[in-house]
Amino acid sequence: MALLEKFASAAAIRDKLGAGGQDPTHVVIDQIISPTEGLVGGRHTILAGTNNYLGLTFDPACVAAGQRALEEQGTGTTGSRMANGSFATHAALERDLADFFQLPYGMVFSTGYAANLGTLTALVKPGDTVLLDADCHASLYDGCQMSGATIYRFRHNDLASLEKRLQRLGEMAENCLVITEGMFSVLGDTAPLAKIVELKNRYGALLLVDEAHSLGVYGESGCGVAQAEGVLGEVDFVVGTFSKSLGAMGGFCVSPHPELDLIRYVSRPFIFTASSSPSIIASTREALRQLRARPELRETLWRNANRLYEGLQALGLHLGPEVSPVVAVRLNKKEDALSSWNRLLKAGIYTNLMIPPASPDGFSYLRCSVSAAHTPEQLEEIISAFARL
Ligand SMILES: Cc1ncc(COP(=O)(O)O)c(C=O)c1O
Repeated sequence: MALLEKFASAAAIRDKLGAGGQDPTHVVIDQIISPTEGLVGGRHTILAGTNNYLGLTFDPACVAAGQRALEEQGTGTTGSRMANGSFATHAALERDLADFFQLPYGMVFSTGYAANLGTLTALVKPGDTVLLDADCHASLYDGCQMSGATIYRFRHNDLASLEKRLQRLGEMAENCLVITEGMFSVLGDTAPLAKIVELKNRYGALLLVDEAHSLGVYGESGCGVAQAEGVLGEVDFVVGTFSKSLGAMGGFCVSPHPELDLIRYVSRPFIFTASSSPSIIASTREALRQLRARPELRETLWRNANRLYEGLQALGLHLGPEVSPVVAVRLNKKEDALSSWNRLLKAGIYTNLMIPPASPDGFSYLRCSVSAAHTPEQLEEIISAFARL
């Protein structure tokens, strides 16, 4: 029984989170009505925390592609690609991604989390070094930890801090992988990738960028922040997910290095898990086609992001440093954040509660993510609900 005693601290966290009304980690959307609306606890609720940036989850072409694949290829693959074979569409999605990013190599994983574990555990080993932005997502930390490489964090988006770390490594900088994100998931700020590329080139390091939140959001054709900064061809590994702008599930890595294809032979999170089901691959491929064919989705997303940021800023709220589709309202105390989150939910607005240790800087945040599918009226409702807080 001693093994189970450690759950006392988890029970204490659960009790605290539930004390304000709804436990934010157990929200059930009883009915999902559209990309931006659901029924929560019997109440019509505007979904302002979905990461559904392009609003493609109900797109008729994506739904039809998924349905067709279900009928034609069945419900699942029932095994891993290494042991049980790939479906032709897994390989086709890898070609689609390589073509989209204009990079020669692409690889698909079953989740975005697995893409980070799978890429990092293959790329770095004990004896290698990773320099990781302090605000990087847990999946990047976990991948580094699993790899056994030596991990140093540099201060968030701080070039001087990164350069100091590279300098200290001396010749070892050539055995080093720098890791950062395009758009960061909690505050919606972006990495200075052009300058980071200049640094990693100068010190002979490699660079991996997680564009999970920036795919479909930044860049001339939606490839992400590296494209927006004009350095996509110089990033060594771009990883990302299908679970945000593409409205599905799965992850990927694309790269100019032929070694990406060899990761398949050594990456346990790729080898020892079932491959994505055909319907997921089909809806993802269609969503990627939509993303490429309809730049107006990105334009609407940015119009909406500007409106929400400007509306919340006018209320005097403390927001992230950049206008972006992630609009995070900062609160000093965890307790205030929890009660404000509950009040917003009761007012029919669902946001994401981010509290330490899962949030940057020790602050708490009510994180909103904007969708191209939000109507102007929904955005005004979100702003008024914050005003009433
Ligand atoms: C930056 C980042 N990378 C990776 C992931 C993991 O992606 P997935 O949830 O699709 O597994 C997330 C998920 O939130 C993320 O924010």
